[in-house]
Amino acid sequence: MSDKPVKFIDENGLRLDGRRVDEIRPMTVEMGVLSRADGSCYLEWGNNKVLAAVYGPRELHPRRLQRPSEALVRYRYNMAAFSVEDRIRPGPSRRSTEISKVSGEAFETVVMKQFYPGAVIDVFAEVLQADAGTRTAAINAATLALVDAGIPMKGLVAACAVGKVDGQLVIDLNKPEDNYGDADLPIAMTEDGEITLLQMDGNLTADEIAKGVEMVRKGCEQIFAIQKEALLSKFGTTDEMEILEE
Ligand code: CDP
Repeated sequence: MSDKPVKFIDENGLRLDGRRVDEIRPMTVEMGVLSRADGSCYLEWGNNKVLAAVYGPRELHPRRLQRPSEALVRYRYNMAAFSVEDRIRPGPSRRSTEISKVSGEAFETVVMKQFYPGAVIDVFAEVLQADAGTRTAAINAATLALVDAGIPMKGLVAACAVGKVDGQLVIDLNKPEDNYGDADLPIAMTEDGEITLLQMDGNLTADEIAKGVEMVRKGCEQIFAIQKEALLSKFGTTDEMEILEE
């Protein structure tokens, strides 16, 4: 028997976890949690738990992979074997390879790679506990780990999904909404509002996508505020130039 809920949104407009359609799950972040990494961040978002670690910039080996005029940014998304109900087989999968690729690209226009020719910046995102929205959670953590590592960036990146349940658009899907909803559209964007990741699973009309993107913008504003609060409490400023000078 399917455990699909009969209704996802009640007559008061509240979702199964009590949120409104445009509300994100509670998010907490802690930077600098790993002493061996150059930068790190532990993030909880609803029931998701993600750890991001950044190593670099450091010389890239083998040298034939080096880029003469910029750094190479490598992003590895990984789910711990114990992060979901069924054990995840260790090692890369089609899913994790795809997520790693698109998530790395979400930082392409933001990381100032031209400052480190021949170097590599490695970003590791480890999902310790998964509850829908792990790729977006990982991107939100990775952004802060990059700043923590002192990597110059044009700004922060935030990510959040929008989907559709009971015919209504909702942001930051929880597990039942992700499993049984009609669509899942993860999006990442820069502080300037440039979209750097957009994927879609399911069906949405062009109008719904446009409206969904605007809802995600509001969600990302909330995430940028949380990220900036973390920067403020760690560095006493949200200005990246001042953070880099520390
Ligand atoms: O996590 P995200 O929403 O970015 O990716 P997804 O592929 O849409 O997966 C949605 C959720 O399904 C994950 O967050 C996990 O909770 C769960 N999942 C799982 O239980 N086993 C997998 N092999 C992959 C995902």
